[in-house]
Amino acid sequence: MSRPMKKILVTGSAGQIGSELVMVLREKYGNDSVIAGTNRTSPSQRIVDSGPVEVCNITNKEQLYSTVDKYDIDTIYNMAAILSGVGEQKPLLAWDVNMNGFHNVLECAREKELVRIMNPSSIAAFGPETPRNNTPQETVLKPRTMYGVTKVAGELLGDYYFRKFDVDVRGVRYPGIISSETPPGGGTTDYAVAIYYEAIRNKKYECFVREDTVLPMMYMPDALKGLIDLAEAPKDKLKHYCDFNLASMSFSAGDLADEIRKHIPELEVTYKPDFRQAIADSWPQSIDDSSSREEWGWAPSYDISSMTKDMIEKLSARLL
Ligand code: SER
Repeated sequence: MSRPMKKILVTGSAGQIGSELVMVLREKYGNDSVIAGTNRTSPSQRIVDSGPVEVCNITNKEQLYSTVDKYDIDTIYNMAAILSGVGEQKPLLAWDVNMNGFHNVLECAREKELVRIMNPSSIAAFGPETPRNNTPQETVLKPRTMYGVTKVAGELLGDYYFRKFDVDVRGVRYPGIISSETPPGGGTTDYAVAIYYEAIRNKKYECFVREDTVLPMMYMPDALKGLIDLAEAPKDKLKHYCDFNLASMSFSAGDLADEIRKHIPELEVTYKPDFRQAIADSWPQSIDDSSSREEWGWAPSYDISSMTKDMIEKLSARLL
């Protein structure tokens, strides 16, 4: 039997996923039951207005432990991370936040017997030797980025804590996440978000990967639902813990531009690949997520056209 989650800390709550996750969790569990942890960046006004906010840098063990004590936290969604692009510019920072920070979270869970830890992994766990299409759950994990190295090590460390110390820690390998609320910071898949902002603002976008670059992507409502459904899944049904493949849609940068042009026909896209092209080329194009479907009932709702319609409606209402 899984113990109930009553008091939740979301780290990285000013980030792309954290900023929306806090609001969805508050809606579900109550405003005062979800504490928005943030490092230096302030979370959005609606997070500040709707419930508790706490400065909590996961690399600072004392700060993390005192936040957990102060609010009697039993569950942590660890969304604080340095992504792949920034991770290549600052590899030691990526290691510190993604590994030492996550280790502090795991130790905190072990010492204080927390109910659950959620820690996302990523398609960045894969590398050029991994089969690129319909990438299996069990496969070669030899990433070439520091971000990917920390994601593989994080999956293994989480699984180790699960088996060795009975810490209930779970996670999914997210594809690129597309969303309208908070822009992503420093990832390789950021172009798939930036193109919407630029299409609406300027009808022009210079894309930092080639037109034929295909990557797996997911719309934010599905990403949030996936993580929360996994958190709530009965423990005895799970055969995997920290490394669930998760898929929704796959398309090229050019396909995405064509889809947006159905709404904004004047959109002009040019392609100027930078260092992130090599990262994109080392990642899979599509993912086999049958373990998530079988073990905890995963099924995404959005495709490229329903996502694009929703993104354009939401961003136009805000930006125009
Ligand atoms: N979106 C992430 C990145 O591009 C992948 O997990 O770094």
